[in-house]
Amino acid sequence: MIDKRTRIKIAIQKSGRLTDHSLDLLERCGLKYTRGRDQLIGYGENMPVDLLFVRDDDIPGLVRDDVCDLGIAGLNVIEEKRLEFVTEGISDPYIEVCRLDYGHCRLAFGYPETGSIQAIRSLEGSTIATSYPFILRDFLKQQNIAADVIEFSGAVEIAPSLGRADVICDLVSTGTTMAANKIREGETILESECILLKTPVAISPEKTEWVDRLLQRIEGVMQVRESKYIMMHAPKVALPDITALLPGAESPTVLPLEGFADKVAIHVVCRENIFWETLEALKDVGASSILVLPVEKMLA
Ligand code: PRP
Ligand code: ZN
Repeated sequence: MIDKRTRIKIAIQKSGRLTDHSLDLLERCGLKYTRGRDQLIGYGENMPVDLLFVRDDDIPGLVRDDVCDLGIAGLNVIEEKRLEFVTEGISDPYIEVCRLDYGHCRLAFGYPETGSIQAIRSLEGSTIATSYPFILRDFLKQQNIAADVIEFSGAVEIAPSLGRADVICDLVSTGTTMAANKIREGETILESECILLKTPVAISPEKTEWVDRLLQRIEGVMQVRESKYIMMHAPKVALPDITALLPGAESPTVLPLEGFADKVAIHVVCRENIFWETLEALKDVGASSILVLPVEKMLA
């Protein structure tokens, strides 16, 4: 049994596109856990945190019902469930804490290559198959389009060849599924990525400290992903040019270089990735011995 009062529960996707990334994120936050084979619960060993492995579509509901304190799911399912909750009169089912910058995909129309409908403007009176009926109906309403929406819980791509729909509206990641079914990807109605969700219910005092720590660590992991530590030698006079070239840099550390009166060593953390072009530009303004190092951890 899990102790609901003192242990934090996080819902993540059981198996799918998001699973590995979500586990990687939590491991980077320091979590070590044990999970038996085919077990739906992972027990945190070094933190009062347990993981619930569930279907991604169930994650918003588990967080909304406060069965889980936190959850990681795609904006696609989060938004779909949110619109469904709204029809039930529930306006703020969960708190969307932050975007996690993985699991990028889009909810888009798909037009069978041989079909007569090839754009949104021709959708009036058509039948559209989707796993996202709430998002789709909401979109059609905003666009003032009257169309029939039929719900498929999976394998939406086969609806046109079964004669069940003229058009589909489904998730696209690489685009291979639509292409394999001779469907042309059309307009996007929602850009999605993974989001961290938090229960709408106040976290119990026993758990607040660790929830706050975890949120802070997740923020740290997000920040270091792109961050780089840069070291170089440069003429003192080039300092303004150099800082102007470095994106998202905080004020640099400038150190004297033994034996050189007019040259210094510059150390700086950049919160964005550094490309070769930037290094070449740094060299052009006089920098030398430039080193770019990954940042492992960061605590603001
Ligand atoms: C989505 C969607 C498509 C597939 C598209 O399923 O339903 O089948 O991914 O990916 P592709 O463009 O890379 O071919 P998802 O992974 O969300 O699984 P689920 O619908 O079973 O949750
Ligand atoms: Zn799903």
